[in-house]
This record gives sequence, structure tokens and C-alpha cells, in this order.
Amino acid sequence: MSSNCGLNLKIHSSSLTQFEASVTEGFPFCMSRFVGVNASDINYSAGRYDPSVKTPFDAGFEGVGEVVALGLSASAAFMVGQAVAYMAPGSFAEYTVVPARVAIPVPGLKPEYLTLLVSGTTAYISLKELGGLSEGKKVLVTAAAGGTGQFAVQLAKKAKCHVIGTCSSAEKSAFLKSVGCDRPINYNTEHMSTVLRQEYPQGVDVVYESVGGAMFDLAVDALATRGRLIVIGFVSGYQTPTGLSPVKAGTLPAKLLKKSASVQGFFLNHYLPEFRGAMDHLLKMYAGGELVCEVDTGGLSAEGRFTGLESVFRAVDYMYMRKNTGKIVVELPPSVNNLSYHAIQLVKGGMFENLITVNMSKVWNIGPKNAIQNK
Ligand SMILES: NC(=O)c1ccc[n+]([C@@H]2O[C@H](COP(=O)([O-])OP(=O)(O)OC[C@H]3O[C@@H](n4cnc5c(N)ncnc54)[C@H](OP(=O)(O)O)[C@@H]3O)[C@@H](O)[C@H]2O)c1
Repeated sequence: MSSNCGLNLKIHSSSLTQFEASVTEGFPFCMSRFVGVNASDINYSAGRYDPSVKTPFDAGFEGVGEVVALGLSASAAFMVGQAVAYMAPGSFAEYTVVPARVAIPVPGLKPEYLTLLVSGTTAYISLKELGGLSEGKKVLVTAAAGGTGQFAVQLAKKAKCHVIGTCSSAEKSAFLKSVGCDRPINYNTEHMSTVLRQEYPQGVDVVYESVGGAMFDLAVDALATRGRLIVIGFVSGYQTPTGLSPVKAGTLPAKLLKKSASVQGFFLNHYLPEFRGAMDHLLKMYAGGELVCEVDTGGLSAEGRFTGLESVFRAVDYMYMRKNTGKIVVELPPSVNNLSYHAIQLVKGGMFENLITVNMSKVWNIGPKNAIQNK
């Protein structure tokens, strides 16, 4: 990502056109208050997700925001002032037009709801569909104290599994203990393969594997007979030119055969039909006090907390310095900006035939006369 990719711009013409077209079609228009940082933001901005996409394109996968304008067809499901969580490309933006089908009403403007979107649902759906979890199974989670790892740990505990989680510091280890992880392994102070060999001689039944490279190799070696490893990611390779981290692929077929073990990939985008149900389930768990949604807004960052879109770059670096515990979230304070100005011009100019409500106090203070339009 660079400062000319649209991140630092308050608005560019495509946003305005999208805003104009979409709001008139009735999609909620949101003021973003929290945006989520993901390990794959750098894969996306490097063009690895869709090589056909040419720069400049909008980055960011998810946010939580407040509905500030609403078209007719969205009015049955949404209200101005409502908090919504959304997974939508281009979410690193102060204002976002969110397709109604992906805007999920949430009880309030809290970053915890954001943690459930990409990170929570990835853990929930992958473990449900591929994990085969049941009581007593041994589950190894790598990057266990991170955005998605924290949910894999807790969901495996809910399924009455024995959970082992890898991490890089004593603080993360303490966090893992606090969310029920039976055996945190701080790989900077303990030798992982020794711990696994000595404490789990029969191997582990399921691995939720996010790190790749040497960690993947260790996890394959630690698989039990009929064990299964779910490839969630390979973050250790994302900063390399290829985005990959080398593994001992040559010996993999023999290792799997000898244990009747399996390795299977999981990519959330291929499970979108399950997304909404997963969100509903996780929201209920959180509301019932059954789930910790740990948020990291840069408490350990030397330059201070992540506030404003300009801090997205710092937040990504923070993740790659392995400092985060929980989900990295950037807060966007409510602000008046250029898009607000353009929104007013469009509203004033009668661009929105089907626009039923605009909360102008959140967009721009142009006086009560123009504040609400009902058609
Ligand atoms: N398949 C999917 O659909 C899907 C969806 C979401 C996320 N993911 C994957 O899940 C993984 C975690 O993503 P996330 O966004 O939740 O990130 P995260 O876990 O919040 O942060 C990444 C963590 O990875 C660990 N790590 C180990 N080696 C690393 C390295 N060389 N460089 C950077 N970090 C390293 C660090 O924890 P420690 O310091 O404790 O080791 C770091 O905090 C990634 O592989 C991501 O691609 C996949």
C-alpha cells in the first residue's frame, strides 16, 4: 500500500459515483467508525487476490459503522443511526456504501463486533465444516493469540477439546490462558517440537494453521493418526516477493499416507453462504458472555494508538512485528470531510430520487431545512 492508492484520499471520483449510484438504489451509506486489519491486507494490495485488478483500487476488508443515509429499498431493514458491521472490499474508507445484503445490524458501535467478521467467522466455519471437533480431541492453533486464532482457541474449547496454542510472548501466553487455552507454547522460550513430542506423543487431532513455513512442517509432523490440518494461511510468507513460505512439500505425501492424515485449505470467500449464520451464532455467543473478542488498537505501538486511516500503515507493520494480541482495529473518529461536502451537493441538487433519509448532522451541518428528506 502506498499513500497514492486512495487510502489517504478522503474521496475519489469512483467513491462518489458509487455513492451516488448506490444510495439511490437503496444501499445503506455508512460512516465507518472501526476498520479491521488483516494479515492478507498486504496480499490484497500486492494484487495477489485478483491479479486482474489494476491499481489504484480500494483496500480493506471490513468495518463497523453508522448508517448516515438510506435509500428506499433499504429502509425496511435499516434505519439512519443504526450500527452495522460489514465485510466489503474497500473498507479502508471514512464513508462506505454497503450493499444491504452484507450489512449486518449490530447492537452498537463497538470494535468487538468487527472482530467477528473475517476473523471470527473464519474460525467458526472452518472448524465446523472441516474440523470434526469432538470432546477430548487435541487441537493445535498456531498464531493462537491473533485475530482469528483467539476464536479458534475458544471455539475448540467450547467443543470440549484440549487446546494447544502457539504464540511469541509471555503476554500473549497469559492471554491464551485467560481464554481457556490448555497449553500455550511461547515459541521464543520453548522448543515447539520438543513440547509436542514429549507432551503429546500420540499427536494432535486437528491443526488450525495460519503461519506456514517451518510452523507448517512442525504441525504436519505433530499430526496424530487420522489427524487433519486446516490451512488457514501462511503469514510468515506474505512479506516475501511470492507471498509464499517454503515447506517440505516433497515428503508431505509420505507423511500423510503413513498417518492417514489430511491437509485441507480453507478460504472464507468460498464459504459465503455460511457467513451470515456464523455471524448470528457468534453475535449470540458474545452477547451471552460466552466469547471474548480481544481488540488491539495499538496499545504497544511506540507511536500511539491506531486512530484515523493514516494509521492503517502503522497497524499493518505492528502485526508484522508480531505485537498484536487479538484483532487489530483502527478507529476512525467521526469527521467532516470532502465526501460529506459532495454528499451535500448531491442531496441539495436533488440527485436522490429515492432517498428517504439522510442524517445530515453526521454528514455536514447544513441546517434543519435540508437535513431530512422524505419522499
Ligand atoms: N483462510 C481465510 O479465509 C482466512 C481468513 C482470515 C485470516 N486468515 C489467515 O489467518 C492468519 C492470521 O491472520 P490475522 O489477520 O488474524 O492475523 P493475526 O493473527 O492477528 O496476526 C498475525 C500473527 O501471526 C503470528 N506470526 C507468526 N509468524 C509471523 C510472521 N513471520 N509474520 C507475522 N506474523 C507472524 C504473530 O503471532 P505470534 O507472534 O504470537 O506468533 C502475529 O501476531 C493469516 O495467515 C491469515 O492469512 C485466513
